[in-house]
Amino acid sequence: MYILGIETSCDETGVAIYHSQRGLIHHLLYSQIEMHSEYGGVVPELASRDHIRKLIPLIEQLLHESNLTSKDITAIAYTAGPGLMGALLVGAATAQSLAMAWQIPAVAVHHMEGHLLAPMLEENPPAFPFVALLISGGHTLLVQVTAVGKYELLGESLDDAAGEAFDKTAKLLGLSYPGGVKLSELAKSGQVRFRFPRPMTDRAGLDFSFSGLKTFALTTFQKSEQSEQDKADIALAFQEAVADTLAIKCRRALQQTGLKTLVVAGGVSANTQIRAALTAMVAKENGKVFFPRLEFCTDNGAMIAYAGYQRFLAGETQGLEIFAKPRWAMSEL
Ligand code: KG4
Ligand code: ZN
Repeated sequence: MYILGIETSCDETGVAIYHSQRGLIHHLLYSQIEMHSEYGGVVPELASRDHIRKLIPLIEQLLHESNLTSKDITAIAYTAGPGLMGALLVGAATAQSLAMAWQIPAVAVHHMEGHLLAPMLEENPPAFPFVALLISGGHTLLVQVTAVGKYELLGESLDDAAGEAFDKTAKLLGLSYPGGVKLSELAKSGQVRFRFPRPMTDRAGLDFSFSGLKTFALTTFQKSEQSEQDKADIALAFQEAVADTLAIKCRRALQQTGLKTLVVAGGVSANTQIRAALTAMVAKENGKVFFPRLEFCTDNGAMIAYAGYQRFLAGETQGLEIFAKPRWAMSEL
């Protein structure tokens, strides 16, 4: 069976087709970055309007390039939340309308479950059970995963999400949107000069707090000469602190659960230094670490098609209502 996946929760329009035996058939992504960069961040109303413009042509192109027609599709999965309400509604309304027209079911997908399952699209997928670290722009979650749909929250960010901290720190260093990637590029020319704290690692528990790092970056920047080298050195110190903190907490989560497999996903998992820090930590623990390929770390349709396929197998299809839930805890799954 072929499952069509639709992702419109934020600033990327993503579509994909997943096949039950053949795996991922095709995926397409349209990024709105250029449009939002003029404003220094995502403008929700512009995001919604652009999803409206791009989504249907993208689905047409996807079917055409996959040599498939609507008749081949068994179900339509779409991101129902969490995310921007207007943006989600475009995906939800489109998915439900197509589902009604094509007389097939729609499947509501939780965006973070999509991220969590993204490594399953790789050739060598992780086996259950495992610990998942989900690091995106809106969430930082440590989850114990025993099966698809069986998630136990181990820890989460009490303030800024990891990606949010990257973006805010980038902004105060004068980097333009999308800040996270730009900060990580700048860090490449940084020299080890500053040492930032590793928040909440001196006490027990698996929660995170990243907002203090942003303030630390700001005061360090204000005290410096604010040269390009200063910026790069601060970017490196910030990134190193995030990477180290994530590694410390993930090691703790593996030890606490007795599990040996770590799965890392979400936009921030594209970060080279974070991937390296987590890979090194897991090697020391004699465990295994799994990441999605780089293009499936950030938002995409493929992870939604896959998560939707799993939900469809579990019999979780939607009624006719256009269902979107901007705030949606994973614990509700
Ligand atoms: O998962 P994602 O695409 O969207 C959300 O669900 O939020 O994650 C986006 C976040 C942004 O905060 C972005 O700055 C961050 O991921 N990000 C990165 C990198 N690439 C994306 N942060 C650090 N280093 C990167 N290479
Ligand atoms: Zn995401």
